[in-house]
Amino acid sequence: MCGIVGYIGKRKAVDVIIDGLKILEYRGYDSAGLSVFDGKKIVTVKKKGFVGELEKNAEGLQGFCGIGHTRWATHGAPSDSNSHPHLSGKFALVHNGIIENFDDIKRQLKEKGKRFLTDTDSEAAVRLIDDMYEGDVLKAVCGAVKKMKGSFAFAILCKDFPDKVFVVKKQSPLVVGLGEGECFVASDCMAFSKYTDKAVYLKDNEVGVVDKDGLSLFDFNLNKKNFRTEKTDIGDDYRLSENCSSFMYKEIFESPKALQYTAADFFADTATQKQVIDIFSKHDKVIMLGCGTAYNACLVGKNVFEKMLDVDCETELASEFRYKNPKVNSNTLVIAVSQSGETADTIAAVKLAKAKGAGIAVITNVRHSSLTRFADVVLHTKAGAEVAVAATKSYLTQTLMFLLVATLLREGSKVSEEIKKQILKLPQTAEQALKFDALMQKYAKKHCQKQSVFFIGRGMDYALAAEGTLKLKEVSYIHSEGFAAGELKHGTLALIDKNALVIAIATQRNVAEKTVNALHEVTARGGKVILLTCFEKLKDTKGAEVILLPQTGGLLMTAPAIIPLQLFAYHMSVERGINPDKPRNLAKSVTVE
Ligand code: G6P
Repeated sequence: MCGIVGYIGKRKAVDVIIDGLKILEYRGYDSAGLSVFDGKKIVTVKKKGFVGELEKNAEGLQGFCGIGHTRWATHGAPSDSNSHPHLSGKFALVHNGIIENFDDIKRQLKEKGKRFLTDTDSEAAVRLIDDMYEGDVLKAVCGAVKKMKGSFAFAILCKDFPDKVFVVKKQSPLVVGLGEGECFVASDCMAFSKYTDKAVYLKDNEVGVVDKDGLSLFDFNLNKKNFRTEKTDIGDDYRLSENCSSFMYKEIFESPKALQYTAADFFADTATQKQVIDIFSKHDKVIMLGCGTAYNACLVGKNVFEKMLDVDCETELASEFRYKNPKVNSNTLVIAVSQSGETADTIAAVKLAKAKGAGIAVITNVRHSSLTRFADVVLHTKAGAEVAVAATKSYLTQTLMFLLVATLLREGSKVSEEIKKQILKLPQTAEQALKFDALMQKYAKKHCQKQSVFFIGRGMDYALAAEGTLKLKEVSYIHSEGFAAGELKHGTLALIDKNALVIAIATQRNVAEKTVNALHEVTARGGKVILLTCFEKLKDTKGAEVILLPQTGGLLMTAPAIIPLQLFAYHMSVERGINPDKPRNLAKSVTVE
């Protein structure tokens, strides 16, 4: 959560910072702020609200060096004063992460007579650095961070060094972009990718000085460190075209391309295939874990693995797994799924599993993300940049990755052309599913005032129900739950009356009719039902509005079934006057606990 940027070079810093913050708004958007050197002093502007609000107030600011921040509040409500940068003496600081012992630091500094002006943990960091400063910024910063517990990526300005940005990383992501006579700092290289494709991804416990000519990097004992410059390969996906006003909508429509690239890349990448075969041969138990939508992709993954492979397989919420005493050892392979690769709970779960000797495979959309550093095998989904908080195309590529891996393990390194052809047809099926857009808009208009929506299905369809319900609640704020269809009668049926909408998913031959039975239980009690099925014979199911999906075969039904549900959630959001890209209280990349 929270996005930070920094700039030093030849351009107007405020323009680069605002542009970068707009791109990073997916990381939080309750307030934003920036500090720039105007030639003589550090000038700071901070505002509650979107980056657009800050932009209006920062217009005309001069200077070539600065830092900026877009916030997702953890400590202290969104307000002008709680916004970053936080200031103390000669310093301005922006922070992504949480300083867990900020209360102790605050108390100690207060005893020394320091005054605090905000409710944030981040202010404790800047006041501590200021307190320890005796002319050497790096020394003060290293001294201060050694006293801090928690996670942090900082970008810092010091009045005594108007042509430098100081950076620190522990757990939260931070990347430095190297340009010609200019450098950039950001939580995500998307923020500067239009200026340079050369990036240095900081590791944990590194501190650095960035000036227009480059980066110097040190450990927290100020020993100089070498670093590797990576090439970023960001396309244009993170910008909206003129004729599309929503990232969520745009990204749903990018699903065919995302599926195509992911499958083609996997089939071409024999080195990764070899690693996959190798690592599975060494482990006899699989645990799939993730958070939110990534966890829902694991539910699909488990269904796929159980149907296609003879493997002992479990799924776990990463946020739960990390606080258990999980039965994990060197026979266990953990498959961690994360679009961003930065989710704090998923990283902590993986660290725990690794410490217990487990093998680690990571399915992620971001090649250089923090999670990949713990991986024995990285399975890179090729969804392209995903900006909307609600994950859409990335979910489809994660579920596809499970299918690709299972296919490879079942077929061996020579996957037959016939099977490849079937999988490579998926993008086409996704295209067909996108044609339900107008229909889903019609349903959204009809049902947007509903107070509760239930999603039901069995087996794989239950996994899809879990994602359908999450999409709907996160962008429409309607109460919604996903159920195993057989469980409805064990309690939830009590909630069904004429005001309830139930969306039933029946794409798996062995359980489709059972789901339809549950549907009849709903209609008998006056509830409204929409049925998504690929079976012709169910198209006249009494009492239900039926959406006949393209038939692709059981395990390939994720895309055709989920795309209409994503479109439904999107249109429900719009009909209810909500911005689907920025749902309240949420952020896309959750880098704090
Ligand atoms: C947040 C987002 C969800 C996302 C989850 C996991 O909660 O709002 O949309 O699914 O994080 O994110 P990850 O990047 O690990 O897939």
